[in-house]
Parts: sequence; C-alpha cells; structure tokens
Amino acid sequence: MSNDELKELTKVQPVLRVAPQPRDLNNNGHIFGGWVLSQMDIAGGIMAARVARGSTATVAIEAMEFIAPILSRDLISVYARVERIGRTSIAIRLNVIASRNLDEEQVPVTSGLFTFVALDENHHPRVIPEESKKKYLG
Ligand SMILES: CC(C)(COP(=O)(O)OP(=O)(O)OC[C@H]1O[C@@H](n2cnc3c(N)ncnc32)[C@H](O)[C@@H]1OP(=O)(O)O)[C@@H](O)C(=O)NCCC(=O)NCCS
Repeated sequence: MSNDELKELTKVQPVLRVAPQPRDLNNNGHIFGGWVLSQMDIAGGIMAARVARGSTATVAIEAMEFIAPILSRDLISVYARVERIGRTSIAIRLNVIASRNLDEEQVPVTSGLFTFVALDENHHPRVIPEESKKKYLG
C-alpha cells in the first residue's frame, strides 16, 4: 500500500480499535493470525449490520492477506469499506493498520474481503433495504 493509499484509507474513522494482549502472542512473539481475523470479522459484522439494518452472518472470507506481523504493544485499527451490495449479501473490504511506537508509525498488517448475508428472524437470507445501496455505495 502506498503512502497516499494509506492516507486515503485512514481519513475515515475505523470501525474498531483494539490493543492485543500478551495472551494473543504466538511463539514468534507476533500476534496470532486467528486473533486479527476475528477482530476483522467483528468489525465487518458491525458494518454489515449497519448496511443490512439488522442481523447478518459471515458467509465467506476471500483474498485474506497477512502483510506484516502485528507486534506486542501495537494498537490495531480496522477500516471497513463496502464494496458491493447484492440482493441479500454485502461484500466489505477490511483493512487493518497497526499503530506502532506510540502512534509514530502506521503499518498496514492485514486485508481481506468479507461477505455477510442479511438474516431474517428464521436465520434465512433477507433482502437488503434499497436505501442502503444509496447510502453506502452512492
Ligand atoms: C448465510 C446463510 C444463511 C446463507 O444461506 P444460503 O442458502 O447460502 O443462501 P443463498 O444461496 O440464498 O445466498 C445468499 C447470498 O449469499 C451469497 N453467497 C452465498 N455463498 C457465498 C460465498 N461462498 N461467497 C460469496 N457469497 C456467497 C449469495 O450469492 C447470495 O447473495 P445475493 O443474495 O446478494 O445474490 C447460510 O450459508 C449460513 O447459515 N451459513 C453459516 C453462517 C455462519 O454461521 N457464519 C459464521 C458466524 S456469523
């Protein structure tokens, strides 16, 4: 990711900011991939619920990239961008940036395309409100 892309990405508020804990470290002294994946799923779920105006479930994760390790004392920010809204599904690009050295350094660490499905009260796919397409895709 270029510096300009990083600047553009971090212009908006992240959906989630969280500090990994020592229990989240693997044997290399880096943060477990599964931990960051779950933070991305949580952040994507928050954004998907806003778009769907209700419950959603994760149906697919694609193009998941672990770009650089997350280190102990990093603070991670998860940025979400809605890429596509279908009849019942929403594709959201999630990018994670680690703030390092007390915010001196911003490091892109992971990226992935998550697809969520809007659910009705019987956990079946539900049609996404038309207004959401205008609001989130313009
Ligand atoms: C989500 C779920 C209800 C969807 O049921 P389904 O029978 O696959 O529904 P459909 O085939 O009608 O597909 C629904 C939408 O998901 C999309 N979809 C389904 N599988 C997909 C996949 N692998 N990748 C991307 N999109 C997918 C379809 O294209 C469709 O989108 P559209 O309506 O916008 O065109 C069902 O798959 C499920 O319960 N999965 C488990 C969810 C879960 O437990 N997640 C983890 C915890 S949140």
